[in-house]
Amino acid sequence: MTQAFFAPCPRGLETALADELREIAARPGIASVAPFQVHREVAGGVEFSGVPAAAYAVNLHSRIASRVLMRVAARGYRHEDDVYALARAQRWEQWFSPDETLRVDVTSNKSPLRSLNFAALRVKDGICDAMRERLGGRPSVDTASPDVRIYAHLTERDCTLYLDTSGEPLFKRGWRMEKGEAPLKENLAAGILRLAGWVPGHTARPFYDPMCGSGTFMVEAAQVALGLAPGASRSFAFEWLKGLDGKAWQALKADAQRARMLAGGDGLQIAGSDISTDMLAMAQANWQRAGLPGEARLKQVDARHTQPPFAEPGLLLMNPPYGERIAVRGARRQPEEVLPRDEAEEAAADQFAAAFAATLKQQFAGWQAWIFTGDLSLPRRLRLKESRRTPLYNGNIECRLFRFDMVRGGNRSA
Ligand SMILES: C[S@@+](CC[C@H](N)C(=O)[O-])C[C@H]1O[C@@H](n2cnc3c(N)ncnc32)[C@H](O)[C@@H]1O
Repeated sequence: MTQAFFAPCPRGLETALADELREIAARPGIASVAPFQVHREVAGGVEFSGVPAAAYAVNLHSRIASRVLMRVAARGYRHEDDVYALARAQRWEQWFSPDETLRVDVTSNKSPLRSLNFAALRVKDGICDAMRERLGGRPSVDTASPDVRIYAHLTERDCTLYLDTSGEPLFKRGWRMEKGEAPLKENLAAGILRLAGWVPGHTARPFYDPMCGSGTFMVEAAQVALGLAPGASRSFAFEWLKGLDGKAWQALKADAQRARMLAGGDGLQIAGSDISTDMLAMAQANWQRAGLPGEARLKQVDARHTQPPFAEPGLLLMNPPYGERIAVRGARRQPEEVLPRDEAEEAAADQFAAAFAATLKQQFAGWQAWIFTGDLSLPRRLRLKESRRTPLYNGNIECRLFRFDMVRGGNRSA
C-alpha cells in the first residue's frame, strides 16, 4: 500500500530537506525495508510517498524535517461543516482507540474560514462523533501531551487531514539537557549546516563555532560526520499507533545501531568557543548526552580575540546574539545619558563587528565563514562583502545565512 506523507520544515529549508530525503531513500538499509519517493517541495515542507514504514525511516533519519505527517484524506470545502464531515467520514479506529487523548491543530494558507480555532473544534467533533458512533466511546482532548495529534491544513479550497507520526517535534533529539541562551532548534541548525556544505562525505575538514552557546551546531555537525541517526535516542508517536509494522521498525533501528557502532570519531576536527563558561558547560554536557566520542573541544574566549583551533583552514559557522533578547558581550556600550538606548545598541553592534571582522581577516585566512543572523545589515557592519546570502526563517523572524570567503591578503569591503 502506498501512503502519502508531508514533512514540514523551517521555511527556506525545503530544497535542503528534499535533498536530504532523497539521500535517506537511497540508503541500502532503507531502500529494501521502507522504500519511498520524494515528490514536491511546497512552501514549508516536502511531499513524499511510500510504504507506511517510510514514515519510520524519515522520523529516524531526517535532521531537517520538523515532523512527519501521514495524509488521511483531502477534499474541497467551503464551510466548517464540510471540514466536520470530512473528519467524521474517516475510520480513525484503524490507528487509535477512544481511550487515547487527542489534539487537533489547524494551519492555513488563504483559507476563507474566519476562525481556525473553530475549524479545529469541528475536526475534533468529527473524529469524536465518528468513534462514538462506531465504538461507543470517544477520545478526550489533551493539548499538553496528547497520545495522538491530528493536523488539518486549509488552503483556499481544500482541506487535508493528517495523522502525525512524530509526537514531540523532531528538533527534540533527546540529548539537550537545558536550554541555552536562545539555542537554535536542532533541525534549523542541521539545515544551515547542509546549506554550508557540511554534508556526508564532505565533513573531513575542520569545523569551528566561535559563539557555540549550548553547542547545537557542533553536536549536529559531529552527528553528520559520524553518520549517527538523529532520532536514535528518542521515541515517536507511530510506535504507539495501531498497525505498526514492527518487523520493519526493528530492521530500521538495527541498521541505525550498526552505523552507530561503526562510527569512530578519531579524526573528528570539531571545536567551539564562547565567552560564557556556563554555556561551555552546557555544550560539554550536550556533547556527551548526544553519545559523541570523548570530550567536546571547547575554549572560553571572546570571539573578537579568538584564533583558529586547527592548523588547516575549514568551516567557521556561528549564530551571534542579536536583537532584544541578547546582546553581544564584551562590546563597550555608551552610557544611556550619552546615547539613546537604540543608538547605544547599534553602536555596540558596530564596534563588535569591526573587531570581529579584523580577527576574521587576520587569523582566519583560507577559512569559509558562515554567519546566521537576523541582522540583515551584518555585512555592512563587518565591512565584508558576502559571497552568498540565503534567506531563512527562525520561527517567524526573517534571517539570513551569509557566506564570507576569507581570502589570504584581505577581503573586499562591502
Ligand atoms: C545566539 S547564542 C548562540 C546559540 C547557539 N548557536 C546555540 O544553539 O546554543 C550567542 C552566543 O554568543 C555568546 N557570546 C556573546 N558575546 C560573545 C563574545 N563577545 N564572544 C564569544 N561569545 C559571545 C553568548 O554567550 C551566546 O552563547
